[in-house]
Amino acid sequence: MSLVVFPFRYDDLDVFERSVRIAASHPSVSSVLAIGDLAPRADVVAEAREVAGDTPVEVVQQERVGSLRPGKGDAMLTGIRRFLADAAADRLHFYDADIRTFSHDWISRAEHALDDGADVAKHWFHRASTDAQITWHITKAGSALLWPDSRYPDVHQPLGGEFALTRDAAQALWDEPEVRRRSDWGIDTTITFTLLRSGMTIHEVFVPEGKAHGSYASLADLDRMLFECLDALQRLGPIELPPSGHLIMDAEGPVTAQIADSIVYDVAATRAFLDQPLPPETEPLLEAHPVLLPDEPAAWDNDRWGAALRALLDGFVLGDPVWEAVTFRAWVLRVLHHTDVHVPNGHPAALAALAHAVEAIRRS
Ligand code: DGY
Repeated sequence: MSLVVFPFRYDDLDVFERSVRIAASHPSVSSVLAIGDLAPRADVVAEAREVAGDTPVEVVQQERVGSLRPGKGDAMLTGIRRFLADAAADRLHFYDADIRTFSHDWISRAEHALDDGADVAKHWFHRASTDAQITWHITKAGSALLWPDSRYPDVHQPLGGEFALTRDAAQALWDEPEVRRRSDWGIDTTITFTLLRSGMTIHEVFVPEGKAHGSYASLADLDRMLFECLDALQRLGPIELPPSGHLIMDAEGPVTAQIADSIVYDVAATRAFLDQPLPPETEPLLEAHPVLLPDEPAAWDNDRWGAALRALLDGFVLGDPVWEAVTFRAWVLRVLHHTDVHVPNGHPAALAALAHAVEAIRRS
């Protein structure tokens, strides 16, 4: 039987109840654990109990487990720790609590993949051609630079927070100090790395209905995530990742019109942001690393981004405002380059360009 964990935020309770109801009524689910960023609120606990019916449900606050900024990583680590201490469940599922398209199928697909022998079932789904820009330009491209012979760059959604694990896989994560310290957005990068490194079989299960969820308005909403994902890669960089890696991939279905046509960030606001000059304190860093100079978006092709990413992986310092300003600007320019050059060609061509960029960096 399975424990389903929902990390959630109290400022985003939109479809929380619906998600708990769905999980609690699935025949493979023995209990549900909702892990919030704040102390449990009485109304939320009462709602969760009501919709869960006879299935045990707990609402708790995330514990302090990791040693970086307290964030999503602490919520996931709390879930892993509680699961390992609970002998009643033999599988652990994680889902964001705000997925509007969440249904029994998400759980069933993962259960089937584990029944078929995988250690990990990792959901993946189509995303808009302007979405997943940390995934593509940082995580997939960065892993292609660091571990070109491994399967890491092939994982569809290495930052995805929806997956199911066997007890052995959850234990392998808990036993890895790099996972256990990662209380922030770097958790997903590090989980994907650790699962591949420990030789777990990962089955990427395709979700045809996609993940409709709350979105961000501006790329600036993603700055912390960007820095913490980059830092996670940087820390893992010196560790070897062998070429073997057991990745099973479901065939993908068609892209829905809604995903194919959507632009997920505010392009005009992002261009306006570029009109603000970088602070003067960034000048020495830019002199030392001219590849990071904020040239026009047109300049940020694959060669330029590969070289810039190398410089970032070598030098970036999490929490240093100068490195963070320069890194954010470089990434925004790369995203705009992609938006200007490839997105107008349609979803298939834009996605092909993103995949091609990762392969070009991998071979460089
Ligand atoms: C990513 O890049 O995958 C992040 O979720 C932002 O879209």
